[in-house]
Amino acid sequence: MKNIDNYNFKAKKVIVRVDFNVPLNENFEITDDTRMRAALPTIQKIREGGGSVILMSHLGRPKTGPEDKFSLKHLIKHLSSQLNTEVLFADDCIGESAKNVSSQLKEGEVLLLENLRFYKEETAGDREFAAKLASLADVYVNDAFGTAHRAHASTAIIADFFPEEKLFGYIMANEITNIDKVVKEGKKPKTAILGGAKVSGKIEIINHLLDKVDNLIIGGGMMFTFIKALGGTVGNSLVEDDLIETAKAAISKAKELNVNFYIPKDAIIADKFDNGANTKSCPSNEIPDGWM
Ligand code: 3PG
Repeated sequence: MKNIDNYNFKAKKVIVRVDFNVPLNENFEITDDTRMRAALPTIQKIREGGGSVILMSHLGRPKTGPEDKFSLKHLIKHLSSQLNTEVLFADDCIGESAKNVSSQLKEGEVLLLENLRFYKEETAGDREFAAKLASLADVYVNDAFGTAHRAHASTAIIADFFPEEKLFGYIMANEITNIDKVVKEGKKPKTAILGGAKVSGKIEIINHLLDKVDNLIIGGGMMFTFIKALGGTVGNSLVEDDLIETAKAAISKAKELNVNFYIPKDAIIADKFDNGANTKSCPSNEIPDGWM
């Protein structure tokens, strides 16, 4: 099977789905570039192999089209310094500028496309939109592990347009190897720790893991849906009321399978979502109204 180490990138245009969903401060400076740095080995491998790189990513969750605060243009300066080259930018991921710049890319050059989510077609997994992205390149590389659970146009759908010429980047390849190592070959007892804001994005993974692990530890924002499902009070915390039954079903499945299901016992709570909020600690299933 083709992989990033044995693929010949010479003179190829390579469209790479990265997860550059990085936090920005009020001056649009990156406050944590971990995700960007993690993608550098894949990008450099393609450049060193003689390919040119077309980077595509989402940033945030824009609702109705382009919004300056979610523009990937804020990332160009830092990315250019990390790659030691001037990164080109197309202010529309599928428009004329993307076509023109990508068609003229030379070996080793890097183009960053504007935020994919400025089009609702991205999250809708629209085939035509995916086809337009695919038309920019000869090869598709997916290195967006943080977004791999989403069936979006630039992650799952675009791959269909590259029946042969599709690969995982180093982040994806390493994560898959490591997950496989533990899930398929690891010794018992096995423990999975899951975080994230929403149960809705993770329920398939939770159900899948329940068949494989001995302990499942739930953290992050989605814990409150489980706490509510178990009869606790969560105040103003993030909760998905429409998934309470789904959460209950997952808890029952864990019981049936003898999987220990852990949820944090206590929490630091705040009276608003703000650095200046009042805070205190309390049992995580007794969060008062007005606190989160
Ligand atoms: C993340 O930050 O979790 C990933 O980039 C996915 O972002 P999303 O939850 O907005 O799809």
